[in-house]
Amino acid sequence: MTKGRITSVLIGLAAIGLAGAGQGQGMGQTEHLNRDRDEEIARATTAVKAAIPAAEADPDRPAFHFHAPAQWMNDPNGPIYADGWFHIFYQFNPYGDQWGHMHWGHARSRDLVNWEHLPIALWPSLSAGENHVFSGSSFRDGKGRPVIFYTSIGDGRDPEQWAAQPEDGDLIRWRKAPGDPALKMGVDGIPHLAEWRDPFLLADGGKTYLVTGGGENGRGAVFLYEATDPELTGWKYDGVLFRHPDADVPNIECPNIAKIGDRWVLLVSVHGRVESFVGRLEGGKLHAESRGVLNEGSYASQLIHDPHGRLIDWAWVQMSNHHGWNGCLTLPSVLSLASDGTLRRQPARELQTLRDHKIEVKPGALAGTEKIGEGDLLEVVADLDPGQASSVGLKWGAATVGYDPRTRTLSTTGREPVVLPESTGKDLKLHVFLDRTVVDVYAGDGAVTQTTQIAHDKLGGLELFAEGGIATIRSLSVYTLKPARFDLSHFR
Ligand code: FRU
Repeated sequence: MTKGRITSVLIGLAAIGLAGAGQGQGMGQTEHLNRDRDEEIARATTAVKAAIPAAEADPDRPAFHFHAPAQWMNDPNGPIYADGWFHIFYQFNPYGDQWGHMHWGHARSRDLVNWEHLPIALWPSLSAGENHVFSGSSFRDGKGRPVIFYTSIGDGRDPEQWAAQPEDGDLIRWRKAPGDPALKMGVDGIPHLAEWRDPFLLADGGKTYLVTGGGENGRGAVFLYEATDPELTGWKYDGVLFRHPDADVPNIECPNIAKIGDRWVLLVSVHGRVESFVGRLEGGKLHAESRGVLNEGSYASQLIHDPHGRLIDWAWVQMSNHHGWNGCLTLPSVLSLASDGTLRRQPARELQTLRDHKIEVKPGALAGTEKIGEGDLLEVVADLDPGQASSVGLKWGAATVGYDPRTRTLSTTGREPVVLPESTGKDLKLHVFLDRTVVDVYAGDGAVTQTTQIAHDKLGGLELFAEGGIATIRSLSVYTLKPARFDLSHFR
């Protein structure tokens, strides 16, 4: 069963009341919800540790894309910056390398590149009838205290949005909040919606808001709620922030919204892709002015504004089967707006710390193929003038990133061909990372980005090519990369 299918079956069962009974609702349930925490986290951690040797032995597993210590992971959740650390959480199945038993894994990093795995942060409160801790986000309340909001999936009940609070300043141990459920359908004017989940918080005009994904009357939408107190315990429903323009989108997953300059960017996950809508937020509605796909090959994004003023995104890289592990996150990437109002996505500069050796390649004419590197951890930064060539680009064995200058089409193995906007100029600017089986392509200064995957045994050497005419290498840097550090000493 695929992950998406399991999710909808579970939620479907809950909605028609076929799944078991037992639920913890209303105020004063804190003990009830937290009673099994230490036992459940210890049990889950033991299961993950048992899978670590198999995960580490797999040559397919990426070396610098964020990944769990072992077992299945999907969406990034709740990134938050605190005391010099970036914290990232993620959907985590400690009990297997397929989707199930959703927990929140947790890690922190000072540089977005090297990570310390931390104890599992959120567990399903099984003794209170909670089966899964689904996706969500982090925020700070009116007193600056971190809080997580996530979707709680339980037996025989509709999804609910729950809050959790840290017990310590390092954000290691978390408790479900006293007021849970924080938001519940049918209460405080909150209507009944399909697939109601994935809360994300934002502040605007001195108020704090929460958005969720879901569907209403068969159409995917993003729903807006407003905090009624600074502790973020009371919420009122403000209506539909955004309705998806396509009739074949029954629900939206993982909405994220953030301000860039004087515009707002809304990311929504539908049909296995992250779509971006950029526009103005007025009267509780997003008025979209442009639309795009953000990094085809990834799903369920999360955004964070960092202390340097950057807007950083991560998303889940979905994979086929692996033994003892599955899934990783996209490279931390910075979103910005180009002068034409469209989104740009560039790798975070901290990734440069992974560079090991630089392979010198001189500028000049390019005809046919030229070998430029070897290995399975590589970075390429290229500026190619296609000249008279009908196609230019990069090849690794079975994979190609090729560009046809006549149609301005970029074709990456495993991805849809995409047209580069005129604003990116005549040259092909490529920034590519190869991390064993995962390949990230940033083209046209981040106007088009894609993540694709390639079998490890089909890699071969890295080649530059020009077909049908002579192209010019204007500049080219190739680096071998080091693996990132994933410290397991705090994973306990
Ligand atoms: C997106 C998603 C979310 C949900 C989570 C469950 O991949 O389906 O909507 O909260 O995964 O793992």
